[in-house]
Amino acid sequence: MKLCSFKKDMNVAVIGASGGIGNQIVEQLARHDSVKTIYALSRSQTSFSSEKVKWLPLDYSQEDSVEAAASQASLSAPLDIVFVATGLLHNDDISPEKSLKEIDPQSFAKAFHVNSTGPALVMKHFLPHMNKDAKSVFCVLSARVGSISDNYLGGWYAYRASKAALNMLIKTASIEIARKNKHVCVAALHPGTVDTQLSEPFQSHVPEGKLFTPEYSSTCLIDVMNNLTHKDSGKIFAWDGQEIAP
Ligand SMILES: NC(=O)c1ccc[n+]([C@@H]2O[C@H](COP(=O)([O-])OP(=O)(O)OC[C@H]3O[C@@H](n4cnc5c(N)ncnc54)[C@H](OP(=O)(O)O)[C@@H]3O)[C@@H](O)[C@H]2O)c1
Repeated sequence: MKLCSFKKDMNVAVIGASGGIGNQIVEQLARHDSVKTIYALSRSQTSFSSEKVKWLPLDYSQEDSVEAAASQASLSAPLDIVFVATGLLHNDDISPEKSLKEIDPQSFAKAFHVNSTGPALVMKHFLPHMNKDAKSVFCVLSARVGSISDNYLGGWYAYRASKAALNMLIKTASIEIARKNKHVCVAALHPGTVDTQLSEPFQSHVPEGKLFTPEYSSTCLIDVMNNLTHKDSGKIFAWDGQEIAP
């Protein structure tokens, strides 16, 4: 795992630090010499074993909490990496639709709240605080199933549509922010199929060797961030660095 394309003493924020992948990203970045501080943001308090890590509350249902976290995380230095690892596929009330007849407005609203609107609020409040003098990366975990051109199986209407919307938000924000910050890359990342509670009910269909540990996926995603430049802004990349068509 290399971070040599970034400056030293980096200031980092991870949103969704309580999740399977977000937690690993925090742990791995905290072990890196060139990372000075990590703001780990989530709804419920998490404990990390590093003095570099500071926890702050963030809940997409309260925009104030997103704004306050962005101000606090950028108080002493601009942000070099913002990593958004939040997402929703299923919970006690919703599960991905197999057919049109399962489409439900409330499930759609929840999926869009967590997968699209929440990350848009993070863009609104965090992007102005990215480092303008050195390479910085703002990335959001999307999903390959959010690609319209890569959709061969159908189903999963709310999740697919909310991730496609997220990809559009990334592209749109990348255009606006490039006028103000020439050094930032705004990108969406697909982590592969990763062994977390999000994928757990669907893992029986995953081919052998294709279910990644959060450790492996996070190492790959950090390598992808290291290789990104401002020319990649607005695009979607998989865990192995391959670009995914929208
Ligand atoms: N795992 C996979 O196979 C896979 C595949 C493709 C894409 N992805 C994407 O990767 C990302 C991370 O997935 P994961 O597997 O790590 O999932 P996870 O373990 O379920 O983590 C999801 C994170 O989202 C947060 N979150 C949910 N609702 C929220 C809200 N209303 N406000 C703020 N935070 C909220 C959760 O916080 P709480 O702890 O507070 O609920 C948690 O930190 C997601 O965007 C997912 O779509 C995952």
